[in-house]
Amino acid sequence: INISAFQQDLLRWYEENKRNLPWRENNNAYRVWVSEIMLQQTKVDTVIPYFNRFMEKYPTVYELAEAEQQDVLKQWEGLGYYSRARNLQTAVREVVETYDGKIPDDPKQLGSLKGIGPYTKGAILSIAYNQPIPAVDGNVMRVFSRVLHIEEDITQSSTKKLFEYYVGEMISKEDPSSFNQAIMDLGATICTPKQPLCMFCPVMEYCQAYVEGIQESLPVKKKA
Ligand code: ADE
Repeated sequence: INISAFQQDLLRWYEENKRNLPWRENNNAYRVWVSEIMLQQTKVDTVIPYFNRFMEKYPTVYELAEAEQQDVLKQWEGLGYYSRARNLQTAVREVVETYDGKIPDDPKQLGSLKGIGPYTKGAILSIAYNQPIPAVDGNVMRVFSRVLHIEEDITQSSTKKLFEYYVGEMISKEDPSSFNQAIMDLGATICTPKQPLCMFCPVMEYCQAYVEGIQESLPVKKKA
């Protein structure tokens, strides 16, 4: 695969087709963080109004750090998985106390905050701080399992590491922020689980699965 041609076609498509989402108004690390936590188990359309209300009520780490936990949970009502909100507030308080309110751009420091796993860490470092770090979730594994024809079982944690390696090789070093967000949008709108819209795909010519006509049988997901 010609990586730089792949990046160029993907980034051009993203520039022209990116979804207008409230957390994309700017790449402020706090906004990226909150949005990625909300988006972990919840769909984009559901998250949008919650995100907007949350930002109005808690515009920076300081308002969130000082808030009563009960009020934060109240804002979260309907999103579910409330440990996300509790961990977020715990981590934000640590940012205020330990890092003077500045969300770390160091991978080790960022990854030690409560609730920030490899995916969220990669999303914040790439989107907010423009570091070439992968942010691999199920959607990203679907896209790259097809592009690169990878048949490893995506329910295995070793497979996730494999994808982190490959995405690390593929990611744009000039614009990692747009690259990771472009893959997210591609997975959400074109490279969908069923009946992907390959005819509209900006990178179909690089896609192993498309060439072989097996896009719908990837990714491989073994049942326990
Ligand atoms: N899904 C997870 N993170 C996302 C993001 N930053 N933009 C759009 N969809 C996403």
